[in-house]
Amino acid sequence: MTNSSTPLALLGGKRACEQSWPAWPVFDNTERTMLSDVLESGQWWFGARVRAFETEYAAFQGARHAVTCTNGTTAIEMGLRALGVVEGDEVIVPPYSFIATASAVVTVGAIPVFADIQPDTLCLDPDQVEARITPRTKAVIPVHVAGCIAAMDRITPLARRHGLRVLEDAAHAWGSQWKGRGAGTLGDCGTFSFQASKNITAGEGGILVTDDEELADLCRSYTHCGRLKGAAWYDHGVLGSNLRLTEFQAAILLAQLTRLESQTLRRAANAAILDQALAGLPGVRLLAPTPAMTRRSYHMYVFRVDEQLLGLPRQRFIEALNAEGLPASVGWYRPLYANVVFRQAHQGPAHGIRSPLANKGVDYRSVSCPVCEQVCRDAVWIPQQVLLAEPEAIHQAAEAIRKVIRHAGKLRTA
Ligand SMILES: Cc1ncc(COP(=O)(O)O)c(C=O)c1O
Repeated sequence: MTNSSTPLALLGGKRACEQSWPAWPVFDNTERTMLSDVLESGQWWFGARVRAFETEYAAFQGARHAVTCTNGTTAIEMGLRALGVVEGDEVIVPPYSFIATASAVVTVGAIPVFADIQPDTLCLDPDQVEARITPRTKAVIPVHVAGCIAAMDRITPLARRHGLRVLEDAAHAWGSQWKGRGAGTLGDCGTFSFQASKNITAGEGGILVTDDEELADLCRSYTHCGRLKGAAWYDHGVLGSNLRLTEFQAAILLAQLTRLESQTLRRAANAAILDQALAGLPGVRLLAPTPAMTRRSYHMYVFRVDEQLLGLPRQRFIEALNAEGLPASVGWYRPLYANVVFRQAHQGPAHGIRSPLANKGVDYRSVSCPVCEQVCRDAVWIPQQVLLAEPEAIHQAAEAIRKVIRHAGKLRTA
């Protein structure tokens, strides 16, 4: 443990975090055995393990149905299609997210409309959603950023009043709960990602959960080349794609799922240690989720910094944390609408990849969501695997942050 006079690691002092952090992904003989079973079975494709995983994951989130697919991006696309979002519809999305939240909307031919986020949850602000509803609005996609559930007690009723569909982008919210109800069950459907960095992973993979059987059947048809439920093999009743998961992926996911609950609780307990240690530190602003969120999966631990109070640019603060042995990054550093794909969306000619929104009457150059823009400048992300460490290591992580703040003045002059 460093004492208060130990110099910053960036300036040659001893690191505050002495140990290495848990590796990700976590796996053991459960994965090895289950993978080997698939290999030996000769059934490599879309069989009993995929079905078993869907059943178990639906139960984990408290949903009636689950449909797997290739990734979290295609999960959003298929959800939007199954909800009836079509060309020309508007879909309200937050700009503080991964590109998939907005790109999936464009892929189905619809128009993303960006609404700002709340400063203390980093999730969609219901008032901003309401202000952007037009007669063309068809759906809204709240994103549960870093596992923190959006204000669903306001967003879903608002959507219902306006006849809008709600797709929760729960790509970070495996196991998060709102008043005891699982993420993904708080609107019409919810989608999750199992990409390599995610808290449950098969390298790639995605799933949609819903209580609506008809919606689940439509999603299944979409992932399965447009075959309707019970249809003969070469009968294709709707337009579909091939988004099926393999048995290898399902085997890994089944194994990963056995650890998800205990890992989620461990991350939450460690995040509580950080919350307590960082509360009130000058220049640090913690998130403040509503108490209605009864459980949170931490895809990362996020806090915000005030560069003025800190006396340091965020980038320098992060470099100093990294030098202390604490992995941290800036995360999403630009609102989605500031990406070239949206900034130049108005420029024709229409092109399936470069400018699919050309000639649709949109121009994102004047879009401004000030809260999101500020968060892109001041958020600090600590990755989820840090939160799997022993509590002693988490206390060291907190000390690393306190140490950099204490010595910020020395970095200004260094
Ligand atoms: C909020 C959010 N939505 C959707 C996705 C897309 O998931 P995938 O990478 O599995 O396509 C991600 C991936 O990081 C994400 O962070």
